[in-house]
Amino acid sequence: MKALIIYASTYGYTKECVEKLKKLIDGDASITNIKTTDVPSIEEFDHIIIGGSIYMGQINKKLKEYCITNINQLLNKKIALFLCCGLPENFDETIKNCFPKELLEAAIAKECFGGELRTEKMSLAHKMITGLMQRASKPGTPETMGLPENMTKLAERINNI
Ligand SMILES: Cc1cc2nc3c(=O)[nH]c(=O)nc-3n(C[C@H](O)[C@H](O)[C@H](O)COP(=O)(O)O)c2cc1C
Repeated sequence: MKALIIYASTYGYTKECVEKLKKLIDGDASITNIKTTDVPSIEEFDHIIIGGSIYMGQINKKLKEYCITNINQLLNKKIALFLCCGLPENFDETIKNCFPKELLEAAIAKECFGGELRTEKMSLAHKMITGLMQRASKPGTPETMGLPENMTKLAERINNI
């Protein structure tokens, strides 16, 4: 079984998630960071896993455009989708804005891997937005909300199909 993971990350949380996911997948899994590398031909892969982090309700533009442009080839593969986000409770709504409807319907797995606010690495604009988000959220909301169990769930789905 050959799998390709295509992802986009800004401050590294998603990158770390896909590195963990790769280890959970049986067989050969490759990783492509769409922000820095061209996506290889997907012809030779059985499973394509696509995901990224959410900023202001949206996934990375390149990732979104890749899915739209390559929808026909993607629909011939087994697809799994994931998001990294700070508001897992909004996952079902958020994912609808990120991927084409046909891809969402065809996906064998859709999971939320949680998120992490890495304030020390953020641009000033992102720091300010994070400050506003934290003021609006419940006191005591943690800055790290990883959902490793959902990575395991997605990998198991891939390994069993
Ligand atoms: C400026 C900013 C905007 C964000 N907007 C959202 C959002 O709309 N919805 C959400 O669930 N999480 C949001 N987040 C949380 C990120 O998705 C989360 O921190 C994620 O783990 C970042 O992953 P990365 O380090 O791979 O980029 C936002 C974070 C920042 C800094």
